[in-house]
Amino acid sequence: MENGKSDSTFTGRLGFILAAAGSAVGLGNIWRFPYLAEEYGGGIFLLVYLVLVVTFGFALMLTEVSLGRRTGKSCIAAFGELSQKHRAIGWIAALVPALILPYYCVIGGWVTKYSVDYIAGSGSVVAGAGFFESFIECGLTGLMGNPMVWFIVFAVITLLVVAFGVQNGIERVSKVLLPLLLVMLIAITVYSFTIPGVVDGLKFYLYPDFSNFSMSTVLGAMGQLFFSMSLAMGIMITYGAYMKKDVPIEKSVRNISIIDTSVAFLAGLLIVPMVIVLGGGSMNSGPGLMFETLPLVFETMPGGHVIAAVFFILVFFAALTSSISIAEAVILALKDRFNLDRMKAIAVVAVITLVLGTLSCLGYGPLDSITIIGKPFLDFFDFFVNYIMMPLVAVMTCLFIGFVVKPKVIIDEVKLSGDFAWEKPYVILVKWVCPVCLILILMTGLLDLFGVFTL
Ligand code: PHE
Repeated sequence: MENGKSDSTFTGRLGFILAAAGSAVGLGNIWRFPYLAEEYGGGIFLLVYLVLVVTFGFALMLTEVSLGRRTGKSCIAAFGELSQKHRAIGWIAALVPALILPYYCVIGGWVTKYSVDYIAGSGSVVAGAGFFESFIECGLTGLMGNPMVWFIVFAVITLLVVAFGVQNGIERVSKVLLPLLLVMLIAITVYSFTIPGVVDGLKFYLYPDFSNFSMSTVLGAMGQLFFSMSLAMGIMITYGAYMKKDVPIEKSVRNISIIDTSVAFLAGLLIVPMVIVLGGGSMNSGPGLMFETLPLVFETMPGGHVIAAVFFILVFFAALTSSISIAEAVILALKDRFNLDRMKAIAVVAVITLVLGTLSCLGYGPLDSITIIGKPFLDFFDFFVNYIMMPLVAVMTCLFIGFVVKPKVIIDEVKLSGDFAWEKPYVILVKWVCPVCLILILMTGLLDLFGVFTL
């Protein structure tokens, strides 16, 4: 985001795609996607997710990028620019990254801990039974075993990068690391195919078994889509604002979706089958999935600890580029809304992150007696953002474009720099299909929030 500032626009199409992909590819793909796929039905979840990417994901990302480029403004100002009466949509959207950043840093901290442990040669300890659980429950001894330490390390790194304006450097590095992550994912996945029993696991992940289908499959996939593609929180609007007028929007959006979805698909291909192969029914699913399965895979590999160290470092960088973009979004919003200078805005972000992040981090340990709608803090924030806030922002954005400013505003912007092959389906999606489905999702989320129904 900030990289757009120094030269005010991204250089060319590739620059835009890589920067946006840096934000999109992160823990959402590698940590969140596999555990949801495992939880919500395997192949059927994958299928639903893919259908949603090419419909909703495409329409929403295209809308946000075009909105940003058309107005040249960040999310808070972009809506106001088109209609003063509707500027509140931008403010609500800006709340989303403020709620995500704290718990994102907690999980980023878990990744940092795993990277450092593998570098330090403690790989066999990490792979020991119950290690992850003890770690997040604050049951390990010493400073290095304390999840709060790792959460703070990750948050401080993110904010230092943002404060010293070195995002450019990080993004340049990550342009090399992202393809490397992809290559490693492929290599480790191919290796995992040699582990006996993998076929059953692959079948579960790849074959859509309709008897596993439920409302939760769709809801989970939808929330994941927003999270993974960095949608419904103003981020893509801001990226659009820095995009040059001659860069083709439709093609770029398609490329970002393909990159983001490929990484998620591959992470799932590696992690989900392993639950069946290595878990033997005893593995905990849920947010710990990748942290429990991967060490077991690395344990079976020749040179596994070195490979694990490299792998977790790459995941760390993917997480860092995403967390930087989340932090930037909050800072920009604070600047636009409250006229704070950059350093003050960073200080506010630090305080929010520390307070909410501490709750999330300790929610599995000392604070585990406190739950909200039966969920520990981290799970609650994740639920609230993905099932309530993002669908709310997305539905308001679609209705705003569909009925207030009209889709022509977006269509004209797209056509300014290229074709719009999917123009007709886009209009139907943004006016009707997306709002109707999103309202259904939002209602189900609210029913869950009030305890009428459990997702
Ligand atoms: N899309 C990022 C991921 O998949 C996370 C993210 C969320 C980034 C919100 C920006 C905003 O990890």
